[in-house]
Amino acid sequence: SPAHIGIDIGGTNLRGALVSADGTILNRFRSESAIAAGATAFLDRLERHIRATLAAATGEGLRVAGIGVGVPGLIDRNGTVRSSVNMQPLDGVNLAVSLEERVGVPVRCGNDANLIALGEARTGAGRGLNSLAVVTIGTGLGSGLILDGRLWTGSGGYASEFGHLTLEPEGLPCPCGNRGCLEQYVSASALSRYGNGRQPEELARAAGRGEREALAAFERIGVCLGTGLAGLLNLLNLDGIVIGGGVAASFDLMAPAIRRTLAARTFPRIAAGVKVRRSRLGDDAGLLGGAMLVAEQLAEQGQS
Ligand code: BGC
Ligand code: NA
Ligand code: ZN
Repeated sequence: SPAHIGIDIGGTNLRGALVSADGTILNRFRSESAIAAGATAFLDRLERHIRATLAAATGEGLRVAGIGVGVPGLIDRNGTVRSSVNMQPLDGVNLAVSLEERVGVPVRCGNDANLIALGEARTGAGRGLNSLAVVTIGTGLGSGLILDGRLWTGSGGYASEFGHLTLEPEGLPCPCGNRGCLEQYVSASALSRYGNGRQPEELARAAGRGEREALAAFERIGVCLGTGLAGLLNLLNLDGIVIGGGVAASFDLMAPAIRRTLAARTFPRIAAGVKVRRSRLGDDAGLLGGAMLVAEQLAEQGQS
């Protein structure tokens, strides 16, 4: 059975991997996204990475059936980037078609966090959970929903933008155009703001030493995230929640506030038994999820 390539385009890093049919990562690439240099330069670089990975696959006697790409922002069902705050030069670009034309292998695209959710649900912390939300806390706050075992993509393919749920009606302005979005209160930069400008890693170390202000910063993130998640649980009655992204390195510092907030703000029958877990796949979730997305879509379309 064929291999696939999973790619995770981030605001900072561009990463990808060759993934075997059994979900083993065989080969990786990584460089800066450098998206500010424009769409063409970016696509040129991505093409070089893909060609090198295809060559590596051939060297190992593997056929690559497809490429799955995760992009932060709204991606329509045809693979066109429709709104990405961090990736403005890609707006309006049909990433699936442009890459397919360049490398001659089927390409399917999706929201970065949706692919991460697919990865965690199938082979990570979400295994065994039928319906779950996966949230990733990093530069932005992303999420993906798996409902009855399937990735929920919504009407136009743009579900689930959890980071842009309104937490504060008159709150901080958000690049999406709204104000008071959850992402303004739950992200790496929000954490730094709560911790007097210190970076997340530094705050985690201070919290580990028991420093009050640092502990309070993680508590604050946990309460805000828990408030958003409570709304999601009341709405969807999920089996579980998986938390990933860079800030999830400090899962244990946030988890008590998250659990307490969920218990306080949802119906007891809805909160009962909800699993709150830390991501198991870490940075590999999006790569594995990308490979799974394209594998699943090609199979549905009879093209695998
Ligand atoms: C974007 C999402 C993305 C998330 C994580 C948010 O700001 O709106 O589309 O999934 O950041 O990258
Ligand atoms: Na999403
Ligand atoms: Zn927003």
